[in-house]
Amino acid sequence: RKQVGKLKTGSNALDELLGGGVETQSITEFYGEFGSGKTQVAHQLAVKVQLPPEEGGLGGSVIMIDTENTFRPERIAQMVKGLKGGEDLDPEEFLKNIHVARAYNSNHQILLVESASELAEKMRDSDRPVKLIIVDSLTAHFRSEYVGRGTLADRQQKLNKHMHDLMRFGDINNAAIVVTNQVQAKPDAFFGDPTRPIGGHIVGHTATFRLYLRKSKGEKRIARLVDSPNLPEGEAIFSVTTEGLRD
Ligand code: GTP
Ligand code: MG
Repeated sequence: RKQVGKLKTGSNALDELLGGGVETQSITEFYGEFGSGKTQVAHQLAVKVQLPPEEGGLGGSVIMIDTENTFRPERIAQMVKGLKGGEDLDPEEFLKNIHVARAYNSNHQILLVESASELAEKMRDSDRPVKLIIVDSLTAHFRSEYVGRGTLADRQQKLNKHMHDLMRFGDINNAAIVVTNQVQAKPDAFFGDPTRPIGGHIVGHTATFRLYLRKSKGEKRIARLVDSPNLPEGEAIFSVTTEGLRD
């Protein structure tokens, strides 16, 4: 097992909650309602992973599996400009290292992990090995394609295989795996237990780290670490600003 790398998010509070950052060789799931910041976190990590380790990155490139067509190059550019010394950085250089693949359905999404593995293998000895794979959203296609009781077991089996493929990708490449999952909170559970949203979880417990995101005032967001194997449960407050994630 190679030494685990840690990818910083831009928020010290969020990094601390994660035990130092998003870990390689693990799946980190960000789940929460629409607008809670999942896609913003994904964009920020796609930028940060390119920084050298001494600046909180992993010195790598990223593969982004985009299932909802929510990847925005302009947003990446804003976040690059928001980095330390960002006024001198060229967003195009960062965009080159973000390999975006649009997934048209759940089967395609699963296949894209194979393509990702091939690309990562080619790049392994380059100066930009793939150090992060993002699936945003992990569950949207599965949710819309598998409707009704009879299909649940099939959906779960497909998703489990997908998660397993992703985990393998993380192990082979010593890469971080970040997935998002939209859930609807019960109105009266907003301040209570978010671990049982309407519709239930369909990801089971394959993710190593699970963070529940919720909106607070304005740009503020609250992340709660839920049932982690080796870290204390807790919450972190961070902000989604035009420049990116901040405390
Ligand atoms: P779904 O994919 O619909 O489940 O939502 P999500 O969790 O992915 O939400 P997303 O990350 O897209 O968050 C959208 C929110 O991020 C917006 O409502 C804004 O509050 C914030 N946001 C997006 N772009 C900017 C920006 O340029 N500046 C600032 N300050 N906030 C932004
Ligand atoms: Mg989103």
